[in-house]
Amino acid sequence: MVRLLIPRERVSGETRVAATPETVRRLSGRGARVEVEQGAGLAAGFLDDDYAQAGAVLHGEGDLPWHEADAVLCVQPPGVDLLSRLQPKALLVGLLSPYGATELANSLGDREISSIALELLPRISRAQAMDVLSSQANIAGYKAVLIGAAALDRYVPMLMTAAGTIQPSRVLILGAGVAGLQALATARRLGGVVYVSDVRPAVKEQVESLGGRFIEPPQQEDRPGEAGGYARQASEAFLEAQRIQLAEQLALADLVICTALVPGRPAPRLISEAMLDGMRPGSVVVDLAVAQGGNCFGTVAGTTVERHGVLLIGADSLPCSVANHASALYARNVAALIEHLLKEESLHLDPEDPILAGCLLTHGGNCLRRDVVFGHEEPAQAPHPAPSPSLR
Ligand code: NAI
Repeated sequence: MVRLLIPRERVSGETRVAATPETVRRLSGRGARVEVEQGAGLAAGFLDDDYAQAGAVLHGEGDLPWHEADAVLCVQPPGVDLLSRLQPKALLVGLLSPYGATELANSLGDREISSIALELLPRISRAQAMDVLSSQANIAGYKAVLIGAAALDRYVPMLMTAAGTIQPSRVLILGAGVAGLQALATARRLGGVVYVSDVRPAVKEQVESLGGRFIEPPQQEDRPGEAGGYARQASEAFLEAQRIQLAEQLALADLVICTALVPGRPAPRLISEAMLDGMRPGSVVVDLAVAQGGNCFGTVAGTTVERHGVLLIGADSLPCSVANHASALYARNVAALIEHLLKEESLHLDPEDPILAGCLLTHGGNCLRRDVVFGHEEPAQAPHPAPSPSLR
């Protein structure tokens, strides 16, 4: 019987959990024994009793049998002290922040622990149910608009009142990936007029179908284009042309949501200090790219900075602020992956499997994604660097 461990998350600020009572029931139904550390789901609103009723075996805090586990399902990687208790060939699944994660990869490789970095899961149809980047980015895009709207000194919708008509707020969204499109849909539901900038041509139709107005990128020869559905890194000359174009939009915007990213690279700097000077006092910038360096000058992760009356919100961990649903979706993604690996009561890790190729970080004592962990090559389909976790 496959033994799956669900530890309490130990990284400061992490409120999510990698399995919920629903996914415990689902995985138990597939013959797995799911063992949960007491209190693991509490910050996400899932009680120990609910796990027990779903079929989980509960262990006291710090008492998980790490040395007997076949797999550990986590959100953020546990500390090296806990990982060192795992038996060789055990599997670690989570958001492992693989870019430049030399210490983690070496420690897992040395102990022959296999690991799956969910950030590197290929964006293919078969893997959609396992795509944690999408499920979490969706939440981030939604919540970014809500916190931005709450901080704004204006209504978002148009309102006709006895005191006259209020014009709708103008929302500018930079980057129309999963988070940007959800931000667009959310801002439209609130009644905002929404403009969206992206460098990928395919995005225009998606933006317009959600009621957004697409800002065509600068028509330059060095337009970055895309690889595997992701934008390529733009040249500095292109970014400068983009900033000139966006300066006008920023001066008119009430709320700006920044989501522009390039896999494995620092976020493109789309808003300069000078551009902020042109913004209306009372307007708000929510920078979801802050952990990758930020799309906007002056944003600080986890903090709100006021600059000449403009609020700059460095929103680096929004899914953690919607912990219940973020966990529900994350846990379903992970359960779908485990179901894919479960064959005849054991976990099968085939590095040739199209879903595992790319996201299997370490296996058999080797690091299979040296390009991501040690090198600087552009990954074919891999998403973003994440902030290094601070372990408690
Ligand atoms: P992302 O988080 O890497 O980037 C966000 C957005 O920023 C992208 O749309 C990108 O084009 C844009 N961007 C980059 N540089 C920019 C710049 N200088 N100015 C303005 N925008 C800029 O993207 P995400 O959301 O992780 O994925 C986007 C792609 O992945 C899309 O092609 C989407 O269709 C695909 N996808 C595929 C899935 C599947 O097949 N399973 C699931 C989810 C997404």
